[in-house]
Amino acid sequence: MVGPGSPAPTAPGRRCHHPRLRPCALPADPALVRPTAPVRAEPPPRSFGAALIEGHALRKSFGDTQVLRGVDLAVRQGEVVALLGPSGSGKSTLLRTINHLEGLDDGSVLVSGTAIGYDERGGELRERRIAQQRVAAGVGMVFQQFNLFHHLTVRENVAGPLRWVQGMSREAARARADELLEQVGLADRADALPRHLSGGQQQRVGIARALAPRPRVLLLDEPTSALDPELVGEVLAVIRDLARDEGLTMIIATHQLDFARDVADTVVFMAGGVVVEQGPPEQVITAPHHEATRRFVGATTVEEHA
Ligand SMILES: Nc1ncnc2c1ncn2[C@@H]1O[C@H](COP(=O)(O)OP(=O)(O)O)[C@@H](O)[C@H]1O
Ligand SMILES: [Mg+2]
Repeated sequence: MVGPGSPAPTAPGRRCHHPRLRPCALPADPALVRPTAPVRAEPPPRSFGAALIEGHALRKSFGDTQVLRGVDLAVRQGEVVALLGPSGSGKSTLLRTINHLEGLDDGSVLVSGTAIGYDERGGELRERRIAQQRVAAGVGMVFQQFNLFHHLTVRENVAGPLRWVQGMSREAARARADELLEQVGLADRADALPRHLSGGQQQRVGIARALAPRPRVLLLDEPTSALDPELVGEVLAVIRDLARDEGLTMIIATHQLDFARDVADTVVFMAGGVVVEQGPPEQVITAPHHEATRRFVGATTVEEHA
């Protein structure tokens, strides 16, 4: 019995399901809640921090092929952006220009206010210095093909760069690596070589390595496209946790529309080297304004549910 003076009961097992909020207990039965109790039908709108990535008029060609033809991109602290678009639309190139794995022909991109790859006077930096700049600006990357060091153990794939780039001590790097391997569910594979892991496990190592320097923003380039279908879920689950529980800022190039709908705050749809449209998933994926987006969503949905 719930008397007038007793507190509203809560059921620890019931969770609110706004995708971007931490789980919280909800009243067990709204009928039992006293009228004065705050009942919130809708989760509060998500709010974001300052701009972390500011890309302006980005242009990049390879030979005669114009791959980025004037892309603007702004990502705020805490925002999860899904980058969609047909193959060849420039998604990978866009991600790679953000952390200067590719140089730009024109335009500018800042990460935490830093133009990665350049010194204060605009001079090009050497690779070692650029790697340190990526860590300082707080940008990490996860690659479609994992890009692990094949001759190094799983632990060393995560710990090594912490020593080489950040000068971390052997003990501290090892402890940080073990903590991350635990987080991605691979504590028991720390001494294995990558080739003895499944693709899904290798990609989880890739994610652990990217997280090791505590990035503010993670760029993920089709992180599940190289995986057998049965291994996609375990990797998406890790990424989903980073978005929901850690509130990590991310740009994820992906063809997984259900996943994008689920975790993204903003969807950016690219085609032919330009951003065709962007907005919340319920607009861009569910009710796209542009024909190219409609075609892409239609084709990808058929593929996804085949
Ligand atoms: N390093 C490169 N050299 C030459 N062409 C490239 C290079 N990287 C990408 N391209 C070309 O740029 C275009 C866009 O590629 P990409 O950015 O990988 O698109 P997406 O990731 O959307 O599939 C493609 O035509 C691709 O062949
Ligand atoms: Mg690509």
